[in-house]
Amino acid sequence: MNLIFLGPPGAGKGTIAQRVTDELGVVQISTGDLLRAAVADGSELGKKAKGYMDSGELVPDDLVIDLLKERITKDDCANGFILDGFPRTIPQAEALSQAEVPIDKVINFVIDDELIIHRLSGRRIHKATGKIYNVNHDGVPQPPADMDASELLQRDDDKAEAIANRLVVYREQTEPLIGYYTKLNLLADITADQQIDKTVSDVKAAIS
Ligand code: AP5
Repeated sequence: MNLIFLGPPGAGKGTIAQRVTDELGVVQISTGDLLRAAVADGSELGKKAKGYMDSGELVPDDLVIDLLKERITKDDCANGFILDGFPRTIPQAEALSQAEVPIDKVINFVIDDELIIHRLSGRRIHKATGKIYNVNHDGVPQPPADMDASELLQRDDDKAEAIANRLVVYREQTEPLIGYYTKLNLLADITADQQIDKTVSDVKAAIS
């Protein structure tokens, strides 16, 4: 099964993907995570991507498309994958289609901007495992009390100015994908403004 998780920054795409991959027997492919790893490695791709990412702009299509196409050829993708944060533009969706990558469902996470800002400013990521936490008391995992703050990362693009730009970029460049996948009869809207367990069950119902 191949799924796309679509939605604005902070909607919970990564959190829900981490919750359902084992059960579905698929892997999560986050282009954001792949790009952050390239930045951390200091690779050529990482050097090109860093400025765009820090300011909340999208990394150019050709770089991300090549990265994604290479990733989905790996052995662990044989049973399927969740594309978390790809495609982000119409040309990226067209590249997926031209590569004849079959997509079973596009889950569109719906949430308002105020809640996005609240969630992103509280997000912390465990550096060693990539597990997503939040310091807000919102019913999502908080960093364990015995975890040292140095083990946690606050993303550079989770600062107020970058969040604001990411929301503008989302509306201009990514939201048109809702119409694109609606026309292909692949889109399922899921309310992301609710407890995680309910969102997980809504996602499972949408793909069953
Ligand atoms: P990327 O890493 O993909 O960021 P994003 O899409 O902006 O999404 P986020 O990771 O911020 O949010 P999420 O929806 O996964 O939310 P999460 O589950 O963490 O991309 C980063 C950058 O890389 C882009 O800006 C761009 O520069 C570049 N890039 C990536 N892909 C690209 C592409 N295809 N093309 C071009 N450029 C690309 O949840 C957020 C927080 O909320 C967490 O702390 C979580 O604990 C909490 N939370 C989640 N669900 C709930 C809930 N139900 N209730 C309460 N809290 C919740």
